[in-house]
Amino acid sequence: IWNEIRKQYPHARVLSIHHDDSVEEMVQIFSQLDPIDHMLWIAPEEQLPSLTDDSIIEGQEKGVIYLFTIIKSLLALGYDSRQIGWTVITQKAQHLHKYDEVNPTHASIHGLMGTLAKEYSHWKIRVIDLESLASWPMQELFTLPSDADGNPYVYREQQWHQQELVPVRYNQQEETLYKTGGVYVVIGGAGGIGEVWSEYVIRKYEAKVIWIGRREKDANIQAKIDRLASIGPTPSYIAADATDQEELYRAYEEIKQQYGPIHGIVHSAIVLLDKSLANMEEERFRAGLRVKVDVSVNIAEVFQDEPLDFVLFFSSMNSFVKAAGQSNYVAGCTFKDAFASQLALEWPCAVKVMNWGYWGTVGTVASEEYQRRMKSRGVGSIEPPEAMKALEALLVGPMNQLAFAKMTTSSTWVEVNRGKCITIYQ
Ligand SMILES: NC(=O)c1ccc[n+]([C@@H]2O[C@H](COP(=O)([O-])OP(=O)(O)OC[C@H]3O[C@@H](n4cnc5c(N)ncnc54)[C@H](OP(=O)(O)O)[C@@H]3O)[C@@H](O)[C@H]2O)c1
Repeated sequence: IWNEIRKQYPHARVLSIHHDDSVEEMVQIFSQLDPIDHMLWIAPEEQLPSLTDDSIIEGQEKGVIYLFTIIKSLLALGYDSRQIGWTVITQKAQHLHKYDEVNPTHASIHGLMGTLAKEYSHWKIRVIDLESLASWPMQELFTLPSDADGNPYVYREQQWHQQELVPVRYNQQEETLYKTGGVYVVIGGAGGIGEVWSEYVIRKYEAKVIWIGRREKDANIQAKIDRLASIGPTPSYIAADATDQEELYRAYEEIKQQYGPIHGIVHSAIVLLDKSLANMEEERFRAGLRVKVDVSVNIAEVFQDEPLDFVLFFSSMNSFVKAAGQSNYVAGCTFKDAFASQLALEWPCAVKVMNWGYWGTVGTVASEEYQRRMKSRGVGSIEPPEAMKALEALLVGPMNQLAFAKMTTSSTWVEVNRGKCITIYQ
């Protein structure tokens, strides 16, 4: 590959940087070079790992964290005021459709590069996902236009694709995947959307709900439990950090002893730590990412032997919007989407992703200030009844991933269609 690149770009150089170099070390190396016009970065080639394998978590170091460090180094050297082009290449980190195998390890890169494109709109960013690093469409690759939204080009069977959202319409259905008396574990259940979901399944299906959250049970959580106990079976609360596999195992064993078989899992955890990339410290980036990456892998590991009817991943519209200031969260969400898609192929139960739009009355961004800001952009607040209806439809329907957003004029359910075929003109 390198020889091929060299033929087209004789001045190209391979940088002697390493994934565990610090920002200071990279700055030292970059500062000795002529100004960089274009950065080509290729994600390491990886075999599709088992989804319960910690190598997915560890793989972040050589992927998204490595790229984050390169970005921070360039910013430290003043590249924010220069023009620079990027070509970032991953392999099978995006799925075209629900039967497409995906290796989620480096899917987080797509979120990071998307927010980078939003934060540095004068940088020309091209993100490409190849089927195999062995067969490069070399001629076309370097003529693909950059994408101002930082969305990837996906290359499969000699065709280029880009993702688009497609409206869907569901008829009211009688079927449900929820069980009367079902046992459901909600990671992040004591949070806003977790509580709404719990109320719905407790009221309608007398579900036995167990919440997992990091903090010790406090008066606020107890008040939520008491309120739901007046509706149906009292939810339980276990204090455990789900990014820590041992803690999640401990919680699992406690649940098994008390409840027996588990019928459904919801990943509703988030740690919102917004900052622009220029102001984002590595630890902050990692904290936002970990709650999506590590918790997803740990769910697969810990609950793999349960007779589950479903695993429900709460993700965000931000997987597509890739908003500036949210690189850690967006990287986590693009990972979560890819991880769930592969899990759906491998597990016998339903594995579904809901990419929520904005919730204005509950949850982590339910402040008046946020509501006002979203309203000014034409974004309305998702409310519990419509959201629960959408989840029922998602769980029994043919699609594995839906986005649900509410505009001030109408609400929209959209299918996430990655298969839009595009032609690249040379
Ligand atoms: N709210 C929205 O508008 C919106 C929009 C799009 C997507 N979403 C998605 O919807 C889900 C729920 O969001 P929300 O607004 O309900 O958030 P929330 O109110 O902040 O609730 C999140 C919960 O996650 C728990 N948590 C965080 N880290 C954890 C960990 N390591 N282990 C166990 N629990 C952990 C938190 O409790 P502790 O701090 O005690 O751990 C908290 O109760 C998230 O997945 C989010 O990405 C929300």
